[in-house]
Amino acid sequence: MKTIALNTGAKMPMVGLGTWKMSDAEAESSVRTALAAGYRHIDTATLYGNERGVGTGIRGSGVPREEVFVTTKLWPTDFFSPEKAFEQSLKHLAVEYVDLYLVHWPIPLMPKSVWLAMEKLYKSGRAKAVGISNYGIGDIEKLLEYASVVPAVNQIKFSPFYYSGEILACCASHNIIVEAYSPLTRGYQLNDATVVAVAKKYAKTPAQVMLRWCLEHHTVPLPKSTHAQRIEENANIFDFELAREDIIALDGLAG
Ligand SMILES: NC(=O)c1ccc[n+]([C@@H]2O[C@H](COP(=O)([O-])OP(=O)(O)OC[C@H]3O[C@@H](n4cnc5c(N)ncnc54)[C@H](OP(=O)(O)O)[C@@H]3O)[C@@H](O)[C@H]2O)c1
Repeated sequence: MKTIALNTGAKMPMVGLGTWKMSDAEAESSVRTALAAGYRHIDTATLYGNERGVGTGIRGSGVPREEVFVTTKLWPTDFFSPEKAFEQSLKHLAVEYVDLYLVHWPIPLMPKSVWLAMEKLYKSGRAKAVGISNYGIGDIEKLLEYASVVPAVNQIKFSPFYYSGEILACCASHNIIVEAYSPLTRGYQLNDATVVAVAKKYAKTPAQVMLRWCLEHHTVPLPKSTHAQRIEENANIFDFELAREDIIALDGLAG
């Protein structure tokens, strides 16, 4: 699997399996399927309630832990005890460390102590990288006023139907990699006429076109599926490139 370098120097595989809405059992089998299909990157969160399933899936896959990039997230209800929440996540995943730990969602007046605790986890080596999610430009600028560790990643909603060049430029200027969540619009726009036409042109599926579009914008898509055939399909996006005019046509779909 192709990788992209984080500002920590670590390499992150350029497609990750999303697991939102999966039960523990679904997460376990989807993670095993994904790792067998060549994925090396799994995205979960405390909020999803499936860290145990994700951990069991990784262990059951036979792929060594150090070859899998594992992300989990800190939910705002844990903002006053980030370390305790992090310990719980490690325990549920049954891992010694995570590759990426994200502040799941910023809230107004978020105490600085949250990010300072994230920095501490990073420095302890138990979170190999730390980052943010759902941060807008203003949130990032506010954070960087006091952060001594620049977030490695900002995980945001990103697809041809939810596209902002400004947030991409802001993240790029700070060397923050953008991860694309809901890159398939949760399935709702896969029949869009423009997406279908571009897919036909490349003999690919609409899902593959949407995910390739994420790569063309140097973002890392995190498609979720519990179906083996789709899991495979969603990672099979490295053998074609979208022409500039098709990228622009897809960019234009955002409302
Ligand atoms: N940081 C955050 O706040 C945040 C928020 C939302 C999501 N996320 C992360 O991003 C991941 C992905 O986002 P998402 O789950 O919202 O939505 P998504 O990946 O855009 O779409 C998932 C939906 O598309 C279907 N699907 C997947 N592959 C397909 C294919 N090849 N053809 C047709 N349909 C397909 C899935 O159905 P089946 O499962 O039935 O195949 C599911 O209903 C999440 O799972 C989560 O890890 C993060």
